[in-house]
Amino acid sequence: MTTDADLIKQAKQAVGRQAAGRVTSGMVVGLGTGSTSAFMIQALGERLHQGDIKDVRGIPTSFQATVLARQYGIPLTTLDEAERIDLAIDGADEVDPNKTLIKGGGAAHTREKIVDGLAETFLVVVDASKLVDRLGSTFPVPVEVLPMAVTPVMRALKALGGDPILRMGVKKDGPVITDQGNMVVDVQFGVISDPAGLERTLNNIPGVLENGLFVGLADQILVGEVVDGRPQVREF
Ligand code: A5P
Repeated sequence: MTTDADLIKQAKQAVGRQAAGRVTSGMVVGLGTGSTSAFMIQALGERLHQGDIKDVRGIPTSFQATVLARQYGIPLTTLDEAERIDLAIDGADEVDPNKTLIKGGGAAHTREKIVDGLAETFLVVVDASKLVDRLGSTFPVPVEVLPMAVTPVMRALKALGGDPILRMGVKKDGPVITDQGNMVVDVQFGVISDPAGLERTLNNIPGVLENGLFVGLADQILVGEVVDGRPQVREF
């Protein structure tokens, strides 16, 4: 029996593969984090291995992306070495009609915002379940916080009308620790009417490193879905 999870996996695979198909020889590519990006990294590595494209270098947005890039044979570079990022390909947790995003379901939003924001083109890869009419409908806003400031930051988030929850590990006791050694607070604000204002306000709280609102960064959105049993990809 095919489950909803199977269909979402097929959609993520289809959209990840199609995004990898947009990479051309010589590009510096921002490598996103998450399950959809993982399919993209695998497909990109396969294209390099087959000789379909060459001289591609990746800039990973997380430890996960670094490990996958190595596994699939994608040469890596850094922001110190690369003069530009031609294309960043990354997933998202919510996408609204203005292409504003919530990211950070994998706690990688700080590096993702740096890499995705520097790219000439930021291509977002999602399955259709990520599309929302109003931002904040389904997903809380992840906020990366320095550990010594967690308590006052949570107080400040409550004062802003949010419902903050410290993200806890799975198969690890205690909080999730980011690639930078910080913690993540997931904040439910309900529907977000002013994402740009909220993004600024959150980053102004002392102790906050970055939040998962991505405003005005996404250029193109590719959406994967399974229609009549067949995976399809459309441009949003
Ligand atoms: C990582 O922190 C996130 O921003 C991911 O890009 C986002 O959660 C999408 O993940 P999936 O592709 O696994 O749904």
